[in-house]
Amino acid sequence: MGGCSSQRVMVMVVVLLLGTSPSIAELQKLKHTPTKADQPLNILVVGDWGRQGTYNQSLVAYQMGIVGEKQNIDFVISTGDNFYDDGLTGVDDPAFYDSFVNIYTAPSLQKTWYNVLGNHDYRGDVEAQLSPILTQKDSRWVCMRSFILDAGIVEFFFVDTTPFRDDYFTDPGEHTYDWSGVLPRDAYLSELLKDVDFALGQSKAKWKIVVGHHTIKSAGHHGNTVEVEQQLLPILKAKNVDAYINGHDHCLEHIVDTESGIHFLTSGGGSKAWKGDIKPWKKEELKLYYDGQGFMTVQITESKADIVFYDIYGKVLHAWSLSKKLNNAA
Ligand SMILES: *[C@@H]1O[C@H](CO)[C@@H](O)[C@H](O)[C@H]1NC(C)=O
Ligand SMILES: [Zn+2]
Repeated sequence: MGGCSSQRVMVMVVVLLLGTSPSIAELQKLKHTPTKADQPLNILVVGDWGRQGTYNQSLVAYQMGIVGEKQNIDFVISTGDNFYDDGLTGVDDPAFYDSFVNIYTAPSLQKTWYNVLGNHDYRGDVEAQLSPILTQKDSRWVCMRSFILDAGIVEFFFVDTTPFRDDYFTDPGEHTYDWSGVLPRDAYLSELLKDVDFALGQSKAKWKIVVGHHTIKSAGHHGNTVEVEQQLLPILKAKNVDAYINGHDHCLEHIVDTESGIHFLTSGGGSKAWKGDIKPWKKEELKLYYDGQGFMTVQITESKADIVFYDIYGKVLHAWSLSKKLNNAA
């Protein structure tokens, strides 16, 4: 019978994969165990923030605390550019306190922060941001280059997007980037893409959300990041991810790609915003473009994901609901 032989093939594939597994360097997987049984998962997303409280960073932080309390958030995702202008100078850089520990002080924000690195972070000591010493200083801090966060109904795939950008390598100007751990670049990128592709394929989660610093689709100042669009987006499409969350453009933005159905969510309004910096975009795809400061929350159940963007006064700028058929095979 067809069913029987295809089962046998499956078993053989599994055996083959196990046998050859050393060739697949899997991404590190963290697990978020829900503290609230049978409750939706609530997350808060902020990006492009570390400026010692200036450029409204403190006001954004204050409002995050209020909304975080109301929503009883499970954790925070940071989309990178954690410390301006040039990352951290080392594990003892006071910016860790001035831009993070002593800024996000609200009780509701005393949850794990899952951070990715942005291009500004790569201009400093990258190993410092990845160091467990920072987690000892503040237990909320979790930062890795690329990793998976398994939160049950949803899996988040954090991707290190900075090394994709050609001009940081070919035309760095007055900036120096800390590429230790990234070279040789071609091998790093191809391995990363392979790992993300593999992990997405393995995922049994109802929702698959990818997080990176750089834009894939954006009407903002930087616009689309062509390298990431060319190399990562085809994988996201093939693996049917629900959403891609990023920072880098200092705005709040929601684009629905009409072709793939993927939602592109920019939460880069953690401090300095770029007023009036917007390029034309298809009206039917651009659901929100806000050029001021703020942040985003996502509430996820098996069947629904509610996305809400807020300004610094806590005003709802945009709300959107994604739904998933419960009987749909993941
Ligand atoms: C702070 O936010 C307010 C309200 O959006 C805005 O008018 C003001 O320009 C912002 N200040 C800075 C320094 O970005
Ligand atoms: Zn950036």
